[in-house]
Amino acid sequence: MDDQAIHPPAQALAQARSVVVLTGAGVSAESGIPTFRDTMAGLWASFDPQQLATPEAFARDPELVTRWYDHRRLGCAACEPNPGHLALARAQGELARRGGSLTILTQNVDGLHTRAGAENVVELHGSIMTWRCSKTAEPVTPPPPPEPWPEFPPISHAGAPVRPDVVWFGEALPEEALERSFEALQSCDLLLSVGTSSVVYPAAGFIELACANGARTIEVNPQETPISSIVTWALRGRSAEILPRLVAVAFGAA
Ligand code: OAD
Repeated sequence: MDDQAIHPPAQALAQARSVVVLTGAGVSAESGIPTFRDTMAGLWASFDPQQLATPEAFARDPELVTRWYDHRRLGCAACEPNPGHLALARAQGELARRGGSLTILTQNVDGLHTRAGAENVVELHGSIMTWRCSKTAEPVTPPPPPEPWPEFPPISHAGAPVRPDVVWFGEALPEEALERSFEALQSCDLLLSVGTSSVVYPAAGFIELACANGARTIEVNPQETPISSIVTWALRGRSAEILPRLVAVAFGAA
């Protein structure tokens, strides 16, 4: 990606009043967290989502499901935010200083945007760091990393298996997260889609919503996706490299 190509979207970022950034697994790839759909390294290449990421799978084999999610919880806790996460947090601060805003809508459950210092992060698919009783929905705090749960599945005070506070296939997204997303999408003048394959709804539909409201759009992804042909600027490359460059051109060197 040459410097020329980065100038127009960087200028749009610097001039925007209300920015929405939609992120997916790709933004955390360079922190060492595997994506889902990359052909070789993606989680769904080695694991079947129907056996691990559905309410039916949890009911059938809660031990397997909670072991897998706890393994991922500890993996995420051992990773650090990368320059892409840090650049988004910086852009948020720069825009706030100019009276603007930046909302992050993430499909990731790893908590890395917040750990990078970002605020206003909407976790569309929940968080792998928080767990709850599957019967009462009462939060149940997991042991601090790197400690795993002492048993699988963990059992709550109510005597029911404890589950991660993530959204599984077939489950509804948290209502508050959806409300905050639609509110931000309705008023944004710029949307960035970063590191998502744009195939899982409703997040995959956010770009069209933003476009319908007149927002300009930027995609950051090393691969083409279904939204590449409709975005204003498609920036091909890794987010840990492109986002810091975009933010540096928009707001100056940190
Ligand atoms: P995917 O694994 O479907 O897509 C990851 C995207 O990141 C792909 O388009 C890659 O090309 C891109 N990518 C890979 N490395 C990158 C890098 N270094 N920088 C930027 N982009 C990179 O992940 P999601 O789109 O997040 O849901 O998947 C959406 C949902 O499907 C997930 O939240 C999860 C999954 O099944 C549930 O588990 C419910």
